[in-house]
Amino acid sequence: MSKFNTIKTILPALENILDKSFILLDRNQTEKYSHDYTEDLNFFPEAVVLPGTVEEVAAIVKLCQENKVALTPRGAGTGLSGGALPVEGGIVMSMQRFDKILDIDTRNFQATAQPGVINQVFQDAVAEKGLFYPPDPASKGSCFLGGNIAHNSGGPRALKYGVTRDYVLNLQVVTPMGEVIWTGANTLKNSTGYNLTQLMLGSEGTLGIITCIVFKLLPLPKHNLLMLAEFENAEKACEAVAAVFREGLNPSALEFMEKSGVEISVRRLQTHFNFKEEVEAYLLIEVDGNNMDQLYSDCEAINAVLENFEVKEVLFAESADEKEHLWRIRRAIGETVKLESVYKEEDTVVPRAELPKLLHGVKEIGSRYGFDSVCYGHAGDGNLHVNILKGSLSDEKWNEGLNPGIREIFTLCKELGGTISGEHGIGLVQKEFMDIPFPAHHLDLMRAIKKTFDPAGILNPRKIFPDVTE
Ligand code: LAC
Ligand code: ZN
Repeated sequence: MSKFNTIKTILPALENILDKSFILLDRNQTEKYSHDYTEDLNFFPEAVVLPGTVEEVAAIVKLCQENKVALTPRGAGTGLSGGALPVEGGIVMSMQRFDKILDIDTRNFQATAQPGVINQVFQDAVAEKGLFYPPDPASKGSCFLGGNIAHNSGGPRALKYGVTRDYVLNLQVVTPMGEVIWTGANTLKNSTGYNLTQLMLGSEGTLGIITCIVFKLLPLPKHNLLMLAEFENAEKACEAVAAVFREGLNPSALEFMEKSGVEISVRRLQTHFNFKEEVEAYLLIEVDGNNMDQLYSDCEAINAVLENFEVKEVLFAESADEKEHLWRIRRAIGETVKLESVYKEEDTVVPRAELPKLLHGVKEIGSRYGFDSVCYGHAGDGNLHVNILKGSLSDEKWNEGLNPGIREIFTLCKELGGTISGEHGIGLVQKEFMDIPFPAHHLDLMRAIKKTFDPAGILNPRKIFPDVTE
């Protein structure tokens, strides 16, 4: 039996807080909030609420806290670990009406935005003023900034510029008790007590609801160059990655793509690409900066490194269209591979020089369990997305082997000095593996933090921590 109450008793009070048009009860309306981008998982909430002000958020949170109703905050629902799924029913709070960029402060290189602003919209708005917001998840055209914070999202540019957490200065948060706090200050430096701003980053909606964000920004780099390097041997491609940095080079993106992933993406996008029989994998490498001569010389130096790793050909994207074409194919791999088969996506991450061992291990483990996989991702960060495919494997073999196989992959990550998620988070679907990166007393410490914020555990229940059998 669920420890949470149904919304029935609080519905009249909810209608005092929000106009009825912002309370969705009909399954036709709530369906779109019952899933995210994680596999084919589906959990219906009893209601979806669409608040428009921080006061409304706080009042709803208080109501849920007092009446022990499960409350799951939600951004755009592009998450890959089931973090926004209302597994206990109750209420989903969508932040979609918090969609304003409130201020772009060119004097201080800061911007203030609401959590329901789309990542790309924000990037474009600040770029118009010569400012740069680097985090660029593959779903940047639809994901919300609030969700990016909840998952500490990355993307290709995280390599040179860091992840979401490196750009958040201050957050307005409604705590699970319904209190409104600002977690920090709008300053570049801050040594004032515990850092609750950073605690919120990656907390997956379990510690509070973000209602306003102050970002730090950078000057927008003027130029970039993009190269596609072809390799006959995927492990060699992975070996080349660390070597690039050892040469003192600092690309703005260094992505790995197995050919099978590129093939699926190209076919599903119905676009063109010149495939060569003998190629097994690609590195997509971008450099950026303000001095074109420097960028050309960086590309030459990168090329020279790749030569040592049996690179076949290195192609330059000649125009902005060609660059966008290659990036589009890269960004679509995750989504399109999933259309091919029943699948499970993992977000492995290791220190970058261990990437060849990780790839080798993933393939070896896969062959023992009979799984095919498509590997791709942010090689420069040692962050390899592994899409495990059921393909023609029998239901029995898939059901029996999947979790032990994932456990072996994650154990290998840990042994290599890595962990089980680089940027997609733990949410619902990785929580049963949390004993791999953390011993019990470490998880207990995290649970104690959650309890301090949310004693009744109403906010995004059953996420991050393995279920405890009582
Ligand atoms: C990507 C997403 C899946 O890198 O993180 O494509
Ligand atoms: Zn990614």
